Amino acid sequence: MRYILAPSLLAADFNILGQQIRETEEAGAEYLHIDVMDGIFVPSISFGMPLITSIRKTSRQFFDVHLMITDPGRYIEEFAACGADGVTFHLEAVEDARKVIENIHKAGLKAGISIKPATPVEAVYPYLSEVEMVLIMSVEPGFGGQPFMPEAYDRIRQLRSFLDEKGLPVKIEVDGGLGKKNVRDVIEAGADVCVAGSAVFKKRSISENISQFMKAFREKEALHKERLE
Ligand code: DX5
Ligand code: ZN
Repeated sequence: MRYILAPSLLAADFNILGQQIRETEEAGAEYLHIDVMDGIFVPSISFGMPLITSIRKTSRQFFDVHLMITDPGRYIEEFAACGADGVTFHLEAVEDARKVIENIHKAGLKAGISIKPATPVEAVYPYLSEVEMVLIMSVEPGFGGQPFMPEAYDRIRQLRSFLDEKGLPVKIEVDGGLGKKNVRDVIEAGADVCVAGSAVFKKRSISENISQFMKAFREKEALHKERLE
């Protein structure tokens, strides 16, 4: 078991973006979570391909692109061309999820499928043998800085036990309201990848913030190793 931190760019200081991304990479964040919003699927508009192309030059992290846009299938090749490593789309935003997953794979990327808090976890079951990751939203998508919804714990646990039962190697990513207060419970429930925006880029320094996540991850990994020995 290895846990991964995915800092969400949405909370970064865009005035010094390159520098902040490098700080996250140096502090041990293996992913960079890139929230793309279109003002239709969610109320806000964030950023798109030109920004990703530009920051690709500054980082070797896994670019984890979270599409909060309607009809995401239209843009998969463009996201691949600008440097995405994985693309996660919302089940609620597509008519044919299978086709979108296929297109993501054809573009050479890892595929993720995401569900909003009100969508039942069972809705992703038909796609679990095809995707590399499921993103469980622990806030309503659209904005950073919202409080974590505790209902997410049961949803993470449900998906974790289903995946374990079926022996499927799918990562669980959790996004929204994560911080030092709940990260231990989130990974205990079964998450592999923790997204964090405000908790990484606001408050203290990026490296101090990230070290708290890393501490929680390494402690849990050590416990897990002990249990196996
Ligand atoms: C919300 C985005 C999140 C957001 C997380 O729609 O998908 O990735 O940036 O921000 P925090 O960690 O501040 O809740
Ligand atoms: Zn996100």
